[in-house]
Amino acid sequence: TRWNVYVTNEIPKPALDKLEEYCDIEVNRTGLVLERSVLLEKVKGRDAVLSLLTDPIDAEVMDAAKGVKIFANYAVGYNNIDIPSATERGIMVSNTPGVLTDTTAEMAWALLFSVARRVVESDKYSRMGKYTGWGPMLFLGQDVMNKTVGVIGAGRIGLSFAKRAKAFDMKVLYTDVAANPQFEQETGGQFVSLDTLLKESDFVSIHTPLLPETHHLLGEKEFKLMKNTAILINTSRGPVVDESALVKALQSGEIWGAGLDVYEFEPEFTEGLLELDNAIVCPHIASATIDTRTKMGMIAVSNIIAAMKGELPPTCLNPEVFQK
Ligand code: GLV
Ligand code: GLV
Repeated sequence: TRWNVYVTNEIPKPALDKLEEYCDIEVNRTGLVLERSVLLEKVKGRDAVLSLLTDPIDAEVMDAAKGVKIFANYAVGYNNIDIPSATERGIMVSNTPGVLTDTTAEMAWALLFSVARRVVESDKYSRMGKYTGWGPMLFLGQDVMNKTVGVIGAGRIGLSFAKRAKAFDMKVLYTDVAANPQFEQETGGQFVSLDTLLKESDFVSIHTPLLPETHHLLGEKEFKLMKNTAILINTSRGPVVDESALVKALQSGEIWGAGLDVYEFEPEFTEGLLELDNAIVCPHIASATIDTRTKMGMIAVSNIIAAMKGELPPTCLNPEVFQK
């Protein structure tokens, strides 16, 4: 029988079309993040829910969602879902790994270059009518080539990001809970402690998941260790950085700049952040390419369809639920 599926926001059409071949679907087409009360109401009586990273799927939502067999999260990150609670209730959870790895890594580089070469700030200057002619001191930035880049988190995205450093003849340092031989082989990167990475890097790019252990991994103490010329890039999760400490570090010149795609209190920005010329503040778009967002949709949908057919969803995060 066809499943009844709720989709918490509009995703690319090919994915919705595919889902509709197999299931009856309702999609939140407001374009807005679902309010909690609406989410609690809409999950009722469904067989599956395609959720977003902006939907907190906790025990209360799961209890409201009696009958739901799978939450298919449209993201690689799944810190918005309480997996132990899902497992306890026999509910499967899936994410969309792999397809957004290189896309996210490219965005980290886009931010790195944009901050280093002051692309956004200087574009604004031109639009404000301030450009009166070539200036020897106009918007001096930082070179990227031959510098040291520090990668925090040597997972798929960190690896993809680091591989690209070769093209700019950079030295790669990395840190993680353990050394990663594949990472070293493919990037020539050197495993160091977080403190060493922060002291020696010209660019620091964060690629860790958000976990209790990575919450506020970077704060006041860490910014003090960094060079005054250093640039921080974050395309992972906002709460990995103590954002008010970051604002202070950018205001005082403790570090030189930051390229951000994620925020501690998303979609809010910490006071002072938006006034800073040395920060670029993108609205969580690192996986936002037409190709990648379509592929993410197809993976999320394929997890739901597999579950419906009684098969193991291909990117299930708690397969022990299926085995039962
Ligand atoms: C985006 O942030 C994701 O986790 O896919
Ligand atoms: C996510 O895809 C990661 O493991 O870096």
